[in-house]
Amino acid sequence: MPRLLVRGKSQPLNGTVKISGAKNAAVAIIPAALLAAAPVRIENLPEINDIRILVEIIEELGVQVSWESPSTLLIDASTLRKVQAPYELVKKMRASYYLIGALVGRLGCAEVPIPGGCDLGPRPIDQHIKGLASMGAKIVVEHGLVKVEGKRLQGANIYLDIVSVGATINIMLAAVRTSGKTVIENAAKEPEIVDLANFLNAMGAHVRGAGTDVIKVTGVDELRSATHCVIPDRIESGTYMIAAAASGGNVMLSDVIPKHLEPVTAKLREMGMTVDVFDDQIRVIGNCEPRAVNIKTFPYPGFPTDLQPLAMVLLTQAKGSSVISENVFEGRFKHVDELKRMGACVKVEGRTAIVTGCRRLSGAPVSATDLRAGASFIIAGLIAQGETVISQMDHIYRGYEKICEKFSALGAELEEID
Ligand code: UD1
Repeated sequence: MPRLLVRGKSQPLNGTVKISGAKNAAVAIIPAALLAAAPVRIENLPEINDIRILVEIIEELGVQVSWESPSTLLIDASTLRKVQAPYELVKKMRASYYLIGALVGRLGCAEVPIPGGCDLGPRPIDQHIKGLASMGAKIVVEHGLVKVEGKRLQGANIYLDIVSVGATINIMLAAVRTSGKTVIENAAKEPEIVDLANFLNAMGAHVRGAGTDVIKVTGVDELRSATHCVIPDRIESGTYMIAAAASGGNVMLSDVIPKHLEPVTAKLREMGMTVDVFDDQIRVIGNCEPRAVNIKTFPYPGFPTDLQPLAMVLLTQAKGSSVISENVFEGRFKHVDELKRMGACVKVEGRTAIVTGCRRLSGAPVSATDLRAGASFIIAGLIAQGETVISQMDHIYRGYEKICEKFSALGAELEEID
């Protein structure tokens, strides 16, 4: 498995970085394409392993795909026949559970292994199951498989007990071709859900309210061809914003939607950083020692949990102590032990981490415990004294397009080894 060598205390990051398409939108939109028995074109897909795996999975199911460019995919699901997703591929990515909603919506049944993905503590799928069951699906979870039988689903009123991105999307997918109206209350409001709704509507679906906490889906008989361009990745954007701030750099991000980044922009400004916002660009200038701030992660439009490990690295450099409350995932402090090995002073109590600032980090071998934790170690490595070697880089390549090239182009010194 490749490892990444990061040389610390190189020059501050400087230059422009182009942001790729959003992973979390793309991994929902590709399964959504299975709902149509007609060809669709998806543009601005990120070149990442999660997308490669997902494309392999849908090919296994009998779907025809062809790449028009490295980021544009043609999908023709008129040949979709199989409803059993292969374990060896599904175990590699969390979002493969969207195949449940898509296969049930199109063929009336699905057999999908319980998915893998990042280990962020317990990640139940009870809300997905509750939603599908309310629509009349019969669901059995046994031998590591989720088996769903739902030939005659009916629209239903579904109240989610927890705001869940995954459950909201899975229910939307199952509802698009189901007769009657499905109402999802306490739905997640993430921009990726809005992007999915826009794609579904472009195919002829009737989805209203995406981006609010009540989503209404009126079933249609069939869907048609469409072209869709995936929104920019707000988590990749946040990664380079935090990296720019932490390295004392000056970085312009291009191809972003600044509105999606408001929680990050606000926090960086609170720390004293300069953040200039343009139509589809953001410039971050790390021109000061960050002030200590408190961060509470919440579903959108709150501060994204996916950026919590990265913000923690920045706060190790702040004047004073900061408190981070992780309100989305129970077990999302697994990166802390690795950061401590680099000299960070972080005390975890339950879902709260107290970060003592003004720490001089020192390079060390660390293991990318999950996708975003891995990215946080790159930032830690860049601001540390000496060399950091990050193992388990596969986690990072699942979700970041050309991360080494993008950081190198900004002046970072890093190279893949092995
Ligand atoms: C998605 C994102 C992930 C992000 C997360 C929260 C994708 C592919 N992944 O993950 O990057 O960190 O949203 O913004 O889009 N829960 C339940 N029961 C359920 C479903 C969820 O208890 O049936 C809990 C989870 O354990 C978690 C919380 O709800 O504590 C939120 O999870 P959810 O929004 O579903 O996250 P994912 O869709 O897995």
